[in-house]
Amino acid sequence: MADQSRNAAIAQSDVERLVFELPPLPYGTKDLEPVLSAETLEIHHGKHHARYVETLNRLLSEQNFSAQRLEEIIRIAHGSGTKGVFNNAAQAWNHSFFWESMAPKAVKPSGLLASAISSEFGSLETLGEERAISDRAGSGSSRSATSSR
Ligand SMILES: [Fe+2]
Repeated sequence: MADQSRNAAIAQSDVERLVFELPPLPYGTKDLEPVLSAETLEIHHGKHHARYVETLNRLLSEQNFSAQRLEEIIRIAHGSGTKGVFNNAAQAWNHSFFWESMAPKAVKPSGLLASAISSEFGSLETLGEERAISDRAGSGSSRSATSSR
């Protein structure tokens, strides 16, 4: 998994105000084509993600949050019912996680993920085959439909 510290792209202003910055994409907007188009990345990064960060910063400037990391803000906002902060912080985190979960060139899983795939599916190839079956069936998961594991 890629470095999640990009989620905590924090800058402190002179007045100690917490400000998050839109992290850059870890690749070019055309680098994931033809799977994801440049237009899709530009919409989700340049518009959605940017708006979540901008709105979060505005909401944080109106409230007194002592947390410094995005993950802490998500937890605190969830626990306190601060929905606007929670939604925008969580969506900013989700988008960063999504960007870091993809790469222009396929990378074989390693470590814990490789072990989990091996134990659950037997191999990466079997996972791919089951995923393809699931995608064709229009389902989010093929585990119950194609496997008794
Ligand atoms: Fe999006």
